[in-house]
Parts: sequence; structure tokens; C-alpha cells
Amino acid sequence: MFLSLASHVDASLVSVFAALGLPTALARAQPSTRPDFGDFQCNAALALARDVGRPPRVIAEDIAGLLRQEAMFAAVEVAGPGFVNLTLAGTFLATSARVMVAHARLGLPDTGRGRLVILDFGGPNVAKPLHVGHLRSLVLGESLRRIHGALGWRTLGDAHLGDWGLQMGMLSSAIRHRDPSLAFFNGGVNEVFPSNAPVTLDELEHLYPEAAAACRSDAGRMAEARADTAALQAGDPGLLALWRSLRALSLTSQVADFRELGVVFDALDGESDVRDAITPLVERLRASGVARESDGALVVDIAMAEDAFEVPPLLLAKRDGAALYATTDLATLEARAMHEGLARVVYVVDQRQALHFEQVFRAAAKAGIAAGVELIHVGFGTVNGRDGRPFKTRDGGVARLTDLIDEAVDKAAERIEGSGYGRELDAPGKLALARSIGLGAVKFADLSGERLSGYVFDVERLVAFEGRTGPYLQYACVRLRSLLAKAGGGAAEPGVPVADSERALVIACLGFGDIVAESARLMQPGVLAEYAFGLAQRFSRFYAECPVLAEPDLDIRTSRLGFCVLTLRVLERALSLLAIDVPERM
Ligand code: ARG
Repeated sequence: MFLSLASHVDASLVSVFAALGLPTALARAQPSTRPDFGDFQCNAALALARDVGRPPRVIAEDIAGLLRQEAMFAAVEVAGPGFVNLTLAGTFLATSARVMVAHARLGLPDTGRGRLVILDFGGPNVAKPLHVGHLRSLVLGESLRRIHGALGWRTLGDAHLGDWGLQMGMLSSAIRHRDPSLAFFNGGVNEVFPSNAPVTLDELEHLYPEAAAACRSDAGRMAEARADTAALQAGDPGLLALWRSLRALSLTSQVADFRELGVVFDALDGESDVRDAITPLVERLRASGVARESDGALVVDIAMAEDAFEVPPLLLAKRDGAALYATTDLATLEARAMHEGLARVVYVVDQRQALHFEQVFRAAAKAGIAAGVELIHVGFGTVNGRDGRPFKTRDGGVARLTDLIDEAVDKAAERIEGSGYGRELDAPGKLALARSIGLGAVKFADLSGERLSGYVFDVERLVAFEGRTGPYLQYACVRLRSLLAKAGGGAAEPGVPVADSERALVIACLGFGDIVAESARLMQPGVLAEYAFGLAQRFSRFYAECPVLAEPDLDIRTSRLGFCVLTLRVLERALSLLAIDVPERM
């Protein structure tokens, strides 16, 4: 089986360490920081010296002596106080590149082994349009879903709609204020209710902020909203029919937004789907003593002695018996645990909810819910405006997700007009190109970098064809495709990389599997995004230094075309794992 590059180097270190009786835990190499230190470096001898009781240089010489016998290295040198510098053999690189290009999985390790991971992301609330806050969850979540799938996991993406809370009561009471004569509030026609919503999507989206504001400023309105929520949750048929119609209406527009972003959910379940499980769950936790009464409410104590900060109890049920956000999350987790082979649940949700998830995970452990399932909260920072504060519209409102995307697409269209890009396209073609570039730019900006820190949505910078941007990566793919098309299916097979830029390119390609595994381990698609950018840069350098189509020597040309094929396959795969489309031409 093809192992990705660093794993391959590590594997030979492990066998050498074992032969020398050294602890194999330290048998690791890192990519060298400088080209004159070789391709990889192993610094283990320094760490081992004390335990082994020998000078690091002597240990390093032992390691180097055995490594020199391995065909994969062209040179093994001991440097400085005991560094082992490794230079890979050109023939090894050529063989590995050929194996990789022929490998359907492109060297990706099968770490998932068919286990199931549920990814909970998106998380929109009914009646609220998707806003910038949802962008990151959708983009990061979709990429993590694809990355898991590539590593052999079975994946299930679930939007976990917020469709069962107080906002539903706020909406129905606001609608009643507008028109108390609606059938929903008056028993329908012999208990039969309309299936269409009594408002348009546009009205609905304005209704929610108005209703929320009314509830905030008027205790009477809040009491009505609470009463409606309780009646809905108790099964009032009119309120249920109204709820169903509003949910369907807002879901239609949200699903359109998902599609636009290239996000596909396997399940559009929501908080409401576990509504019948809540009471039995709460009762069970009360009866088993996992939950205790506190001031008439039910709580689960989850603080631990080693906590560095205070972790408050999880509030399971309020004094009036109403369930909370955490209760639905526990019930949902219990339902999810019924899935055959479930090994992991990943919640891609704003870092500001970190405490909520800590509470839910601890309470689940205490209650024996989803025992043995790995629960991971993947948090992220906010999308900020140029002022460094959470992104708002010009008039200070919450920016809709579609506004933000439109801004990027408009900028892309402007850039296309002002440049030579998309020259041969007709108007609809140019529009499609602008969409692809605008979305690619937004997604790359969202994925690259450390997810916990927020980033500035600066459309000028992120919709650029140069620099660390999505369009730069898209362009690298398009250029490679057109180069290979011009080669017209001529012989292409990676040979021994000779020039520095060839070596650098091949070594980067061979690292793909390790990088994907690393982004999954850290839950950081940003690691893969940075890698893709680095790979595209290496390709540019290679392309500038090494003629491909113009190369007269047939063997060299065949080999270089082979490097191009490999690079394109890796880049396309990387972009597809980031859910970034590549336009036909640019
Ligand atoms: N609807 C929630 C919100 O807007 C996000 C849901 C995240 N997922 C979850 N299982 N809690 O904050």
C-alpha cells in the first residue's frame, strides 16, 4: 500500500530505532527548514542523549549508519550537535510519484475504516435567514465532512435546525397580533388547518426581529410568547400546523442557500425531532439521580475538581418544566447513538458556545449517553468587518449570508471585466465564472488560517488572483488543465526529479495524505488550505523554471508532464475537500 511521504520516512526511522534498541516513540522526522539540511530532519538523538547516556552525536551516527542502508535515501548526514539530515533518493521519489498518481485514493490513509461520524453543522434557526455567523459553520462543516469521507469514514451531515424553542412562540404570538382571525388560532375548519404559511418569506424574515424586539421591551408580549411556546410543545393542533408551515417556508430558502454554497446535508433534522424523547429523558435522569432539583429546576452537576474555571451545572428543565437548548442536545445525542457504528460526533459551532458543549458532553458522560462515542466541539471565531468587529451591514444590521456572497461575486465580476480573465466567455459564462470565483474566494478565506481566530472579510483582498486566495488556487488548476490539454495526451510519467523546483513539487505532492490526516486530527481544514496554497506556489516556481511543452528532450518532457498530472490530481482533490469549485476556464 502507498504510504504518504512523512509516514514512509517515519516508518524507516521506527525500524532503525527498534534495531538499535532506542524508544520508537521518538522516531519522527520533520520537513527540513532549509534546503541545505536535506529534505527531512530527525532531531531525536538530542532528546535521547540523557536517557541513553551517550553523546547525541554518537547516537545520531548510529542512526545515520543504518539509515544509509535504505534505498529511499540518497544521503544521510549528521550535522551540528546531533541532527540527522535526510535527503531522499530521486529514484524513490520517482517510484512514489508513479505509485501515487495511479492510486485511486491518492495516498490517503484509511483511518476511518468505515466508522460513522455525524457532523452537526449549519444549525440555522427557523424563521431567521442565514447570516454571516452561519457561513463558517457551513463552510468548515462541509469541508470536515469531505475530509472524513476521504479518510474512509462514513459521514452523516445533519443541520440540526433550531425549530423548537421560544422563537417559535414569539413568531406565532406576533402573527396573532397581526391577524387574530386566522384559522390557526380559531380551531381551523373542523380542526383542519391550512398548510400554507400565512406570511411570505420576506414577511417572515422581518417578523422575527420585530417579534423578538417586542418581547424584549414588553413583558406582556414575552408572556404570550412563552404561553404559545408551551402550548405548541404540548401539542396544540393549530399552533402545530402554523409551526409546520413556517418551518417549511424558511427551510426552502435555507436549502437554496446551502445549495449555493455546495453544502449537502444527509439529514435536515431539528430540535423538534426529539420532542417526544425529552420528557422520558428528563424523568430518567431525575429517577437515576443524575439530575437533582435546585430551586424547583432540574440540573446536572458536572463540575470537576481539576477544573481551571467554574463549570456551572447543566440546566435540564426549568421550574415550569420547559426543556432547554442543552436538553434537546442531550436527547438528540441519545437518538444519534442509535446509529450503527457511530464513533464520533463533531459539532461545528461558534466558539462562544464552547461552555454549552462542555456541559452537554460532561452530562452525557455522567448519564451514560453515547458512551464510547468521541464528542468534539469544533469552534470558530467570528467573521469581522474592516473595523475588526463582527461583520454588519452598512446600516448596522446583521448581514445576511447571501449579501456577503453577493458582495464577493460582484467584486469578482468587476475583476474579471478589468483583467484578461474569462476573455472568451459570453455574458452568462462570465456570470458563472464570477460566482465560482466569488464563492471560492469566500470559502478559502473562511477555511485558511486558524479557525479559532476570527478574520476580516475584506473583499478587495480575498477576491484577488494573486496571493493567498481562493482564485489563485483555482487559477493554478485551470492553468494545469489547459497545459495538459495542449499536451494532447502525450506521454506523461513522473521520472526522477532533477531541478530543485521539481524536487520541491514532487515532495509536496507526496505529502498530501499526511496533510489530510493532520487536518482531520486537528479538525483544521486550514491546514489543508495552506498546503494547497504552498503546492500551487511550488507549481508556479516549477513552471517558471522548467519548460514542459517546449522541452525538446522527450524523456524530460514525459517526466515533467507526469509531475503536472500528479500536481493537478492533488490540487483538484485538495480543493474538492475544501468544497471549492474549479471553473472550466478563467
Ligand atoms: N441553532 C443553534 C444556534 O443558532 C446552533 C445549533 C448547533 N448545534 C447543536 N447541536 N447545538 O445557536
